[in-house]
Amino acid sequence: MSTTPATHEPARPVDGAVREPLTQTTYDELREIAARYPQPRSGLLPMLHLVQSVQGMVTPEGIEACADVLGISAAEVSGVATFYTMYKRRPMGTHHVGVCTNTLCAVMGGDAIFERLKDHLGVGNDETTEDGAITLEHVECNAACDYAPVVMVNWEFMDDQTPESAVQLVDDLRAGREVRSTRGPRLCTWREAERVLAGFPDDRADEGPSAGEASLRGLRIARERGWSAPSAPGGSAGDAAVEAARGAEGAPEAEHTRQEAAVEQSPTDVQHEDNPGNEGGDAK
Ligand code: FES
Repeated sequence: MSTTPATHEPARPVDGAVREPLTQTTYDELREIAARYPQPRSGLLPMLHLVQSVQGMVTPEGIEACADVLGISAAEVSGVATFYTMYKRRPMGTHHVGVCTNTLCAVMGGDAIFERLKDHLGVGNDETTEDGAITLEHVECNAACDYAPVVMVNWEFMDDQTPESAVQLVDDLRAGREVRSTRGPRLCTWREAERVLAGFPDDRADEGPSAGEASLRGLRIARERGWSAPSAPGGSAGDAAVEAARGAEGAPEAEHTRQEAAVEQSPTDVQHEDNPGNEGGDAK
């Protein structure tokens, strides 16, 4: 763990009574987002993230601002903001801690982690600690099942967690210690993450690896065994990638791309050159 101080927002009331009003700068950024799209209303989702980055939730003021900028009704904006669970209608803590309790994570320990954190933090689902530091929520599958049980902090992955590691995680966050995702990046605050989701990068995108051993194991096994994908009738995106790789004669990516295309196929579609009868292999 690095000794570099993390950026942390001060604790603030959790009743939502005190929030920064939207400034001219925010209105300008809302218009900047809308202008990125051929149809300005397509920018509504990142605009709502920007509102959350400024006010810690989707406020009535934020809904009105989005509606004004896009020339649509507040009801239309509200309809979107209440549909997606990433948009919060209650004040959020400095950090959002999401525990995956979907099936695989649940049986691997996600349920136990969630119960332990509820007890440790003294909050229930979708509630915020009294110091405003942590909002705890159980979340659905985040497509990281190969690292189950998974916890997310401000949408960064914390893989292979246990009740004990999760308690240490929230204690570190509350103490303002720097914490890194198990995949590398330094954790920011929830509001800072919301600004990134609004389309304003924080230059942390390249911190840490993009994939780890558990995710790449299938690719490694395919390479070791020389598995390749059959050609699909009429071709496919995978075929196009393979052909592009073959065209790059001598390029080291060629074989890499061929193998990636192979493992992107359904396991039952992959030809096992070393053992055609072994469809499932031992990839697990
Ligand atoms: S079930 Fe938890 S990430 Fe998929």
